[in-house]
Amino acid sequence: MFNAQRKIWHGSGIIERNFRLTEQTFRLTLVTQGVLPTVNAGQFVMLRLPNRTDPLLGRPFAVYRVLGNVLEVIYLVVGKMTEHLAKLRSGDMLDFWVPLGNGFSPVSTPTHIIMVAGGIGQTPFLMLAEKYFRTDSRCTLLYGTRNAKYVIGMDDFRQFDVDIHLATDDGSCNEGFINYHGPVTDLISKVYRHGEPARIFCCGPRPMLHAAFRIASRFNLPCEVSLETSMSCGLGICFGCVVKCRCEKEKTTDKEIDLATKIEKETWDYRRTCIDGPVFDAYRLCW
Ligand SMILES: Cc1cc2nc3c(=O)[nH]c(=O)nc-3n(C[C@H](O)[C@H](O)[C@H](O)COP(=O)(O)OP(=O)(O)OC[C@H]3O[C@@H](n4cnc5c(N)ncnc54)[C@H](O)[C@@H]3O)c2cc1C
Ligand code: FES
Repeated sequence: MFNAQRKIWHGSGIIERNFRLTEQTFRLTLVTQGVLPTVNAGQFVMLRLPNRTDPLLGRPFAVYRVLGNVLEVIYLVVGKMTEHLAKLRSGDMLDFWVPLGNGFSPVSTPTHIIMVAGGIGQTPFLMLAEKYFRTDSRCTLLYGTRNAKYVIGMDDFRQFDVDIHLATDDGSCNEGFINYHGPVTDLISKVYRHGEPARIFCCGPRPMLHAAFRIASRFNLPCEVSLETSMSCGLGICFGCVVKCRCEKEKTTDKEIDLATKIEKETWDYRRTCIDGPVFDAYRLCW
């Protein structure tokens, strides 16, 4: 996983736009006074409502786009913070700190980058598609939603020549796209050509990530998943975002069997999603 040491920018931004994309989804554009730091695809930002103690804590969101002093986020209204966020207007202020987390690993040789997104999980992928636009790698987005009306941001992905395949739970379709009725993970085997160098990157609900990982391991493909674990500090301090990961196998001596026989013992430990993730090698997670 990408893990370059970076300084974290912390400050306030003025809301330039905060408009509705679908019933419960909004696109937020924030402008700051100074230039923002470089953000790697898959890193995230913590947003916090200033001068409020309810909600007290900030909330994590994937960076959708960042350019100069402008940062964009796409969010789904699910609770306290996002309900407040949806009421904010142009000119209102927000506190934020960025960039956080590791981000997706870089791809150095021509590769088929297969991005698998579920629900609001397409948000970290626009920057990934932008990164490999006009390179020898090609990007495919497999995007699953409950219903065709929840599909958002596809014009942005088209700008970067992404091959888009949609999947819906109810079989509804979006004109101008390849549509599929069923789980988005079914599409992996349809777009992957056996033998080609490919990598799978996923973001979405945990069962979808697990299903994508099982398919990746069947094809022996590298697979990274971006987790949406709830967070408090976002900075590695509170340990409120831990997930179970496999550790390197340890060679130990099993006294009961034979003192001279070394056996490989698999162990696990917790990792903080906010600094060791949110992107994890799917083969290292304890599913
Ligand atoms: C690295 C990362 C990137 C994310 N990127 C995005 C993004 O681009 N767009 C976006 O809309 N959301 C994203 N999320 C999820 C987002 O952080 C939560 O939706 C947000 O914190 C909800 O805050 P709230 O105060 O509105 O909801 P709360 O009032 O805190 O919670 C409302 C309900 O949602 C549940 N909930 C809260 N957070 C999560 C979560 N992370 N996963 C599952 N259920 C949750 C709670 O258990 C509760 O039932 C991301 C999360 C992480 C960790
Ligand atoms: S959110 Fe505090 S350690 Fe990760």
